[in-house]
Amino acid sequence: MTFPKNRLHRLRKSSTFRNFVAEHTVTLDSLMMPLFVRPGKERVDPIISMPGIAQLSPDMAVKEVGELVSAGIHAIMLFGLPEYKDEEGSASWQDTGVVQETIRRIKDQYPQTVVAADLCFCEYTSHGHCGVMKGQMLDNDSTLRNIEKQAFSLAKAGADIIAPSGMIDGQVAAIRQIVDTQGYCDTAIMAYSAKYASAWYSPFRHAADCAPQFGDRKTYQMNPENSREAIREIELDIEEGADIVMIKPALGYLDILATARNACNVPLAVFNVSGEYSMVKAAAQQGWIDEQEVVKETLTCFTRAGADCIITYWAKQYAQWVG
Ligand code: PBG
Ligand code: ZN
Repeated sequence: MTFPKNRLHRLRKSSTFRNFVAEHTVTLDSLMMPLFVRPGKERVDPIISMPGIAQLSPDMAVKEVGELVSAGIHAIMLFGLPEYKDEEGSASWQDTGVVQETIRRIKDQYPQTVVAADLCFCEYTSHGHCGVMKGQMLDNDSTLRNIEKQAFSLAKAGADIIAPSGMIDGQVAAIRQIVDTQGYCDTAIMAYSAKYASAWYSPFRHAADCAPQFGDRKTYQMNPENSREAIREIELDIEEGADIVMIKPALGYLDILATARNACNVPLAVFNVSGEYSMVKAAAQQGWIDEQEVVKETLTCFTRAGADCIITYWAKQYAQWVG
């Protein structure tokens, strides 16, 4: 049976009709908003490279969560800007650290909000790499020992999810082991499993003050030339105990997302990264594109490609647009 009997336009004639037959729809429930927290009080320091995003002191982060909850966003991810940096990033595992304090305050006021804490060291190290360095190379296994310290501290503070982003081999197993033995078996792990060494992170490195002071992250993050390797990373993380796996960045990596969707049965997250955000913001500021339409389409594409969870700096604005 073909044209003229078959006419695909029949199902497209009104928005209600299109919505009725839609295959994939983005829901606010699946969005997670990243927040940058810094020490201090009543601080909202705008991030120049990411219009609309700011570094917040813990009190302001709690206030922001209140606004997110009103808008319909119930999941957040915290990144920390510490009081001090050193060779190993020891500020990251202090129970009095800015992320730990923020987690406690958010969970106290908004216990239903899903609080994820990024676990890495690059914001906390003087050299800006994601772990302990031995010369020019990252020392994987020494870094694991520090991962345990940071994970324990984040779990104690009350994080619902620990999200290791360093691409350190064995990081998921190390976190699972320490939090379980310390009595936090209900803390979930969302692994940045297939995190590529990408040029799309630059606005974030400015926002989180974590650019490497020498070299790059290519010896630990994935090579953009590879896709099968992403599935190996995902399989290993699931074996090590990851509850949710993530692909990052998003836009250029939807093929990886779609392949991963077919290759595993755990929830799949995608990180719509800073460069993807800032690029659209910059074009919108020029009046060259319609930001709302671009963002609605983009988030839909993540869902269509197979993402169950979307981490995006647009979460709040999107919720306000559609709400
Ligand atoms: C830190 C980290 C980065 C991002 C999340 N966690 C930067 C990096 O690996 O250099 C990127 C987030 C973004 O660009 O939005 N390991
Ligand atoms: Zn890092």
